[in-house]
Amino acid sequence: MEKFYEKTLLEELHDIQDTYGYIPEEQIIRIAKTRNMPKSQVYGVISFYSMLHVKPRGRYIVRVCDSLSCHLNNSESVVEMIKEFLGIESGETTADKKFTLEVVECLGHCGRVR
Ligand code: FES
Repeated sequence: MEKFYEKTLLEELHDIQDTYGYIPEEQIIRIAKTRNMPKSQVYGVISFYSMLHVKPRGRYIVRVCDSLSCHLNNSESVVEMIKEFLGIESGETTADKKFTLEVVECLGHCGRVR
């Protein structure tokens, strides 16, 4: 007999992230046990969705696009300046937990590049 869950896996993951700001390992283990699924499957779902995170993130998320249009307009140097200013690499969070830097795919602002 198939087990009924109050929430879908994605709803549960979103709720956890809303509570903690990310999805802690212990919550992933709990979900895997509760839903009788491998932990790797929970990680698979999390890693599929770019807006779900397994590490704590900063209060402010700095996203810089490095897709073709932006790359051709020197986004790489913008990323380097931000890295130097914040003292972190892409994907990292400052020690004061204020900023997380993410280099991402197209943000839909290509038309604003001059
Ligand atoms: S290519 Fe950078 S915002 Fe679209």
